[in-house]
Amino acid sequence: MVKTLWLFLFPAICFAQSSPYVPSIENGKKLYEDNCTVCHGVQGDGKTAMATMLKKPPVSFLDPKIEESFTPQHAFDAMTEGRKDVGMQSFKNLSKKERWDIAAYVFTFRDQTLKVEDPRPELSWDESKLMSDSQIIELFRKRGLPEDKVIEQLTLIRSYPQ
Ligand code: HEC
Repeated sequence: MVKTLWLFLFPAICFAQSSPYVPSIENGKKLYEDNCTVCHGVQGDGKTAMATMLKKPPVSFLDPKIEESFTPQHAFDAMTEGRKDVGMQSFKNLSKKERWDIAAYVFTFRDQTLKVEDPRPELSWDESKLMSDSQIIELFRKRGLPEDKVIEQLTLIRSYPQ
């Protein structure tokens, strides 16, 4: 009896563990504005008064270089660890969910013009949080999507994590 119960429970437990927290962009925006704008700027471009006083300029989230390699996971880790050598503290004081909210939000700066009623991004948050913008673009080009749809998908994926 106990064994049979396990047969049913085990997949349920595994499923529960693998379903990820899907971040809230809205909450991420608020948290970003409270914690990050002083250095990284409201628009995410890093052009702040504070920037001139730091050893190294804060990252601009609009920098095309960032598209190549930067992932939400990377942003999450940077917040968790901090970059103390350049004056960015650790944000472990924020909960994991809050850090994920911000990590997702910093990927929305490039395009906030697309407003969709019923967004259906073709990649789940769990997949996209490990991918840079360039990797997402490459994936959809390989799938044969026309160029405007590729960019639309990127924006959907970043702005409406699901
Ligand atoms: C006191 C200023 C300051 C604050 C506040 C700050 N940062 Fe930074 N941040 C920096 C600087 C400076 C760098 C550049 C680090 C480098 O180039 O090595 C940086 C780098 C980063 C990076 C890139 C790290 C890497 O290694 O690639 C991310 C992501 C980041 N910040 C996110 C955030 C987020 C999100 C917040 C708010 C929760 C935040 N930062 C708050 C100054 C700050």
